[in-house]
Amino acid sequence: MKIALIGAGKTGAKVSELHRDTTIFNSANQATIEGLKTCDIIISFLPGDIFVDYIPMLIEAKIPVITGSTGFEWKDEWIKEINDKKLVWVRAHNFSLGMNIVKNMIETLSKARDLYPDAQFSIHDIHHTMKVDSPSGTALSWEKWLGTNAEITAERTGDVVGYHHLLMESPVEKIKITHEAIDRAIFAKGALWAAEKAFKNMVPSGLNDFSTIVNNHLKI
Ligand SMILES: NC(=O)c1ccc[n+]([C@@H]2O[C@H](COP(=O)([O-])OP(=O)(O)OC[C@H]3O[C@@H](n4cnc5c(N)ncnc54)[C@H](OP(=O)(O)O)[C@@H]3O)[C@@H](O)[C@H]2O)c1
Repeated sequence: MKIALIGAGKTGAKVSELHRDTTIFNSANQATIEGLKTCDIIISFLPGDIFVDYIPMLIEAKIPVITGSTGFEWKDEWIKEINDKKLVWVRAHNFSLGMNIVKNMIETLSKARDLYPDAQFSIHDIHHTMKVDSPSGTALSWEKWLGTNAEITAERTGDVVGYHHLLMESPVEKIKITHEAIDRAIFAKGALWAAEKAFKNMVPSGLNDFSTIVNNHLKI
């Protein structure tokens, strides 16, 4: 499987470390349609604003795209074109396989809310000092998956890749869910897992969310 990697920074570089047959396109070696077409799958860890400029070229290249780029709104017209042209695209805000398993755990907790009318929920995120958003997008997603208000707190320290903790506390018991990303390779591994699925024609055409692909795999 030949990967075309666009965006080989802190996260994308892990893709090329884990997968030898990777062609890197960066500011010095800009991607072209011809260059992309020599590969089987495109993986993007470009910053979102730059990824947006690449979308027309990626659509024209017609090969599967796995994208982790964040920080922009997906336009309906792009989604329509991807779906109409039956292209295979997978997107995720968080390519950690474990985070997608945690999502199912939180959704189970959400379904049990009526069993715990007195419960209080809190979410805490810890990230490196360079992270722009606070609380993290993931912390906000956890609250959304939970389906009820939670007290959200955030901490920015050192080079922490990503730590999220959910506490459900009732007068008689506590449930704690923690997810800790140790290395940015976690995201590259998830993107490569999705790339492998797309390469084996196991991903439906259109724009897919990574969580759907994971849940299909887990038969959830
Ligand atoms: N979905 C997930 O699981 C996940 C996980 C982590 C990060 N992300 C997202 O991935 C993106 C990148 O994050 P990061 O922390 O890896 O950022 P980063 O370290 O700043 O890397 C960005 C890379 O993009 C490259 N780039 C910039 N302009 C380019 C261009 N015109 N053509 C080709 N390459 C270009 C830069 O290369 P040059 O130095 O050559 O310009 C740089 O290597 C962000 O949107 C982030 O939120 C997603």
